[in-house]
Amino acid sequence: MSEALLGGRFTFPGTSFTVRRLGYGAMQLAGPEVWGPPEDPDGAVTVLREAVAAGVNHIDTSDYYGPHVTNQIIRQALYPYPAGLVIVTKLGARRPPDKSWQPAISPQDLTAGVHDNLRNLGLDALDIVNYRVMGSGLGPEEGSIAEQVTVLADLRRKGLIRHVGLSNVTAAQVAEAKEITDVVCVQNHYNLAHRHDDTLIDDLARQGVAYVPFFPLGGFTPLQSSTLTSVANRLAATPMQVALAWLLHRSPNILLIPGTSSVAHLGENLAAGQLTLSPQTLAELDGIVANASL
Ligand SMILES: NC(=O)c1ccc[n+]([C@@H]2O[C@H](COP(=O)([O-])OP(=O)(O)OC[C@H]3O[C@@H](n4cnc5c(N)ncnc54)[C@H](OP(=O)(O)O)[C@@H]3O)[C@@H](O)[C@H]2O)c1
Repeated sequence: MSEALLGGRFTFPGTSFTVRRLGYGAMQLAGPEVWGPPEDPDGAVTVLREAVAAGVNHIDTSDYYGPHVTNQIIRQALYPYPAGLVIVTKLGARRPPDKSWQPAISPQDLTAGVHDNLRNLGLDALDIVNYRVMGSGLGPEEGSIAEQVTVLADLRRKGLIRHVGLSNVTAAQVAEAKEITDVVCVQNHYNLAHRHDDTLIDDLARQGVAYVPFFPLGGFTPLQSSTLTSVANRLAATPMQVALAWLLHRSPNILLIPGTSSVAHLGENLAAGQLTLSPQTLAELDGIVANASL
């Protein structure tokens, strides 16, 4: 397979995990509101198998998607897992019956979360586990995460976790965590129209740490911009493909995990790796943030 396939490759620092930069985020495979089974369970299995058949070897998930449902679908679709597949999961939340997202951050919660992931994915050890910080609002909030990262580092020493990442964090929290254990990736909200992490991305790039934007297509509020549409029309691409290609061009440490429950959208998203954006087009797209609706 060509090196350029799916955006080229990236190796998580200090690991033997090399992935294609275009991966897949599994959150859309659960039912509405990321709760319960999907409306089309066979379709969900097909999307995962098509992704892996196309060369995807980086899948993002969590046992609190569903809850449990997404991991169970991944296992059903892909177990025994192909060599080289890296499954990244996250801890830090739980879903009570009212479908809300609540913090689950005690040592007992985090340890139970690791065992839930192991059981539902059918694994003896988790490749990468992100500690997802649950703040009171939408974005990251300052505050020590040392206690939770120490628990993950202990689980790593016990062999249940291979590598540790972080999600929804500030630069100070990344620095704090790195004093406790190696951090291989950071997963925060970032896309063409939501660029609070520009400085963090560049800092992590210098350290060789992966930056994995969640909501790369805008998440629950799909990206919409007349500039994006006009660039896409000019390139005979879709706006979503241009949004993904822009992220691939933004920094070599950016890995993509767009989520979809549709085989057609999956194919479109993976084809974004073939799109080359000129410096002029990149400058035009950079201008979107000034008029962002997000
Ligand atoms: N760490 C965190 O806190 C956090 C938070 C959110 C998400 N995540 C992770 O990040 C991944 C990506 O985020 P996300 O799935 O929420 O948002 P996203 O990738 O930005 O967008 C997904 C939405 O876009 C649609 N879509 C996908 N491809 C499309 C295309 N080619 N054309 C038109 N629409 C398209 C999907 O609908 P269809 O199903 O109809 O394609 C879905 O509604 C998740 O799957 C999850 O693994 C992490």
